[in-house]
Amino acid sequence: MSDVILSIDQGTTSSRTLVFSPKGKILFTAQREFPQIYPQDGWVEHDPETIWQSVLKTLQDAHEFCEDNNHQVKGIGITNQRETTLVWNRETGECLYNAIVWQDRRTAAVCRKMAKTFPIEKLNAKTGLLHDPYFSASKIAWILDEVEGARDLAKTGKLAFGTVDCFLIWRLTEGKSHATDATNASRTNLFNIHTQCWDEDLLQLFNVPRSGLADVKDCVADFGTCTVLNEDIPILGVAGDQQAAAIGQACFEVGDIKSTYGTGCFVILNTGEECVTSKNRLLSTICYRLEGQVTYALEGSIFIAGAAVQWLRDGIQIIKSARDTEKYCRSLESNKGVYLVPAFTGLGAPHWDPDARGGLFGLSRDTGRAEIIRATIESVCYQTYDLFTAMAQDGVDPKVLRVDGGMVANDWMVDYLSGVLDIPVERPKVLETTAFGAAALAAIGAGVYDSLDTVKAAWQLDERFEPDMDAETRETVLKAWKSSVEKVLTN
Ligand code: G3P
Repeated sequence: MSDVILSIDQGTTSSRTLVFSPKGKILFTAQREFPQIYPQDGWVEHDPETIWQSVLKTLQDAHEFCEDNNHQVKGIGITNQRETTLVWNRETGECLYNAIVWQDRRTAAVCRKMAKTFPIEKLNAKTGLLHDPYFSASKIAWILDEVEGARDLAKTGKLAFGTVDCFLIWRLTEGKSHATDATNASRTNLFNIHTQCWDEDLLQLFNVPRSGLADVKDCVADFGTCTVLNEDIPILGVAGDQQAAAIGQACFEVGDIKSTYGTGCFVILNTGEECVTSKNRLLSTICYRLEGQVTYALEGSIFIAGAAVQWLRDGIQIIKSARDTEKYCRSLESNKGVYLVPAFTGLGAPHWDPDARGGLFGLSRDTGRAEIIRATIESVCYQTYDLFTAMAQDGVDPKVLRVDGGMVANDWMVDYLSGVLDIPVERPKVLETTAFGAAALAAIGAGVYDSLDTVKAAWQLDERFEPDMDAETRETVLKAWKSSVEKVLTN
């Protein structure tokens, strides 16, 4: 019998469970995509039961694989799309409303209004975040205000609120554990990242009752026992997906930086014990918390990266599969002046403009499929550049970037990114860094790993891309990108 760890990765477009060996090798993957719900412009929801069923099914498949192959499961790790918010009834376990997804902009006006009475500096000093509908607090308040009877139920303490990790822990433990971890709590706008407590001022500001909030634990902790499989298994590690990716990428030293290209793109820079405050609208957040010791990060959040490729495939249907993008990008010698600003759900860092919408610029009579595809891929690189510019203005000057996520299978994209950033970009052998990060946390909890050092030892380079874009081209494309972004900004 060999030991294994199950890692649940509940993302924005799919749920997966992976089986990891103690050496960090992926032995099995089960995946289920689920539909996105767009009830109105700027609204994005998920059906909680679909999320749950997709997780349960992949978990069952992974567990069956372990049984068939005589593997002993030592623990479960969970990582998840962050900020996405659910409210459920503690007695029935049923959700009062769909999950309101991180990309959802419905509370933009409320956030704008709040910024007038509660200064952004004060909010940022407590949470590291900003007034933006991206974060969970205004989403919880929306459900409590808009769903009939919700406020009354909340007053009686019958409601539980949480991010996706918290909801899954509740369901996996059949209502026995209402817990979350510090990284997920740090994305709600209700959690004080310095005191490590839910903040009374913020609970009042957002009108969210304390009684509905979960216990906040370290990333390695006893989150309860999963009792929905044929055997009971402890849940021992939890982190939001971007933080889990930073762990999977072994970003453990101050200055280590990674960028994950999933639905969105999230750059996380480890700032160690120091919580660095950005002057350029980047977020301060918790990278991980182990044995009560917090490691902080500076984060740049871009809302649309892989989602734009999904739009090419499923929306305007000009590619059959994401893999096709590389050959179209390579088929052109230049971008021919075509730029896409994929502000489909507003713009995140560093602009924070929830009302911005996308734009495609520089079209001419000969613009075709290849130009639009290339503009889409390039836009992700330019947005990363904007985050690096904000970081540079904050005095941070990364020398190398580690990348992961589905999009970086595209060599052309990673090469272009390196050129635009003008620094080397490293791609690891294991691209499943998010799931690996959560597995590593659970492995530490189960005593299979001694510490994060084991993750560091397991990290292996696949390819290092050196910047090779000439200065003139770089200057031209970045100037054109900047003026394209200016055209869609509303603030
Ligand atoms: O903050 C949102 C983020 O956690 C979503 O991640 O992997 O769906 O792009 P992803």
